[in-house]
Amino acid sequence: MSNVNKTIELSALYEISKLLGASLNLKANLRGVMKVLAEYLDMKRGTVALRSNDDVSIFVAHGMSEDAVRSGRYKLGEGIIGRVAKLGSPIVIPNIGDEPLFLNKTGVRVNLKKENIAFLCVPIKFKNEVLGVLSVDRLFGSKAVSFEQDLRLLKIIASLIAQSVRLYLEIEREREAFFQEKENLKRQLKGRYRVENIVGQSDSMQEVFEAIHRVAPSKANVILRGESGTGKELIANAIHYMSPRAKGAFIKFNCASIPEGLLESELFGHEKGAFTGAMAMRKGRFELSDRGTIFLDEIGDLPVILQPKILRVLQEREFERVGGEKTIKVDVRLIAATSRNLEELVSSGKFREDLYYRLNVVPLVVPPLRERRLDIPLLLDYFLEKFHKENKRSIKILSDVRNILMEYEWPGNVRELENTIERLVVMSRAEVVAFSDLPLSIRDQSSKVGEGLKTGGILSSVVEEIEKTRIIDALRKTGWNRAKAARILGITPRQIGYKVMKYSIKQTDD
Ligand SMILES: Nc1ncnc2c1ncn2[C@@H]1O[C@H](COP(=O)(O)OP(=O)(O)OP(=O)(O)O)[C@@H](O)[C@H]1O
Ligand SMILES: [Mg+2]
Repeated sequence: MSNVNKTIELSALYEISKLLGASLNLKANLRGVMKVLAEYLDMKRGTVALRSNDDVSIFVAHGMSEDAVRSGRYKLGEGIIGRVAKLGSPIVIPNIGDEPLFLNKTGVRVNLKKENIAFLCVPIKFKNEVLGVLSVDRLFGSKAVSFEQDLRLLKIIASLIAQSVRLYLEIEREREAFFQEKENLKRQLKGRYRVENIVGQSDSMQEVFEAIHRVAPSKANVILRGESGTGKELIANAIHYMSPRAKGAFIKFNCASIPEGLLESELFGHEKGAFTGAMAMRKGRFELSDRGTIFLDEIGDLPVILQPKILRVLQEREFERVGGEKTIKVDVRLIAATSRNLEELVSSGKFREDLYYRLNVVPLVVPPLRERRLDIPLLLDYFLEKFHKENKRSIKILSDVRNILMEYEWPGNVRELENTIERLVVMSRAEVVAFSDLPLSIRDQSSKVGEGLKTGGILSSVVEEIEKTRIIDALRKTGWNRAKAARILGITPRQIGYKVMKYSIKQTDD
């Protein structure tokens, strides 16, 4: 090689190595490299193709249109680029017009015979792994060129590129891992507000859980609102056992369960001889819950005459037993619950406004089950497991019946669902629950919904079957990675979570 050539070559290599380190943007760096190549060699076109599994696709190109770049996609072993990627060794085609292997897939070389173009193609290798292919169209026309020299230069450039590509792939991999990590964290964060024994993943229940976590450590009074069977008592329990008072007593009292005349003495206790039959002093519920929590269920049923005394305990932390003079101090936290419309009771004078405001400091609303259907499959499995254990018996609820349970209104909320599952576990004749095993109320509603919509029902079940299959396919393809599967399906990770639950899709090891 002449000294002039050597100098040119060295300065080209110097340029290229500088360009490859110019930024973290591999594409931009490689474009620069292509430009240098075009200048130093008589390069008409050039490409860097990268390999991903069995495909090699053009990543950057010089002298080609966007469309041409897009069609530059080869299977391993296909065409010259595919071959170089597969074999891991260079191929030189002195004149592509004479070469049947040359696919001209990108369509950029219009008149192959006329142009006198040599095609040089070298693998971009790191250790023994082919990461991609560098290819160059070199015009030779009348000038005498040494392919050997070109090849040597291209090999050096390819090895420089390999370092960058490897770094790039590593960063990509890290980015992917980071994304994955973020998704996992998000999922964990979502479940961060787990409360023991309370099942729920719907947004509204997550909000309830978060509120429980926030309010539990404080001494604030809490009022739980929500329809019957939504889990108010369960939540009251959780708040107590998550509070600093957990070691103290948790006293439950249902204001609707006792005749009005006995309520006061039940709540505040009585002195000996306070009334006929009061043979001895007796502590009431408030006194018993000293340094603990009192749970007043159905507080809306509290008679108006007793309300001021409750208000006083809340404000002054003191009261007197029935028939007693002595003022008793208590340190008690109140959690109240009601399924009644307190505001209505206030406006009709059945509930004192001052007490209402006192109680309403931290209102926690538990939504009815029909407004958080996402929780139904979760609760279903939870109760199935519970009653399987209790009864040493196991039943299966397949998707047809599951769907009916998903769509039922559940006026009795979680309690109704719990009772239904218990009944099914105990009573089902076969291992698989049949429609006819369901309680009448559920069958009734389901057939009403189905009336006149029979074909709709069949159609929707077909659609669901297709949807289920697609989801399972996507999950299998992605190694049961929900975030990735969701991306394939064009839905959000939350949506796929919902579907997995809905169709009770379980991971298989194939
Ligand atoms: N999210 C939940 N996870 C698990 N079990 C639940 C959940 N919600 C309710 N339950 C169960 O459902 C039943 C009813 O709950 P709970 O007694 O707490 O309801 P409630 O709101 O107090 O109803 P009511 O107003 O009729 O007293 C209980 O057996 C409870 O354990
Ligand atoms: Mg209750």
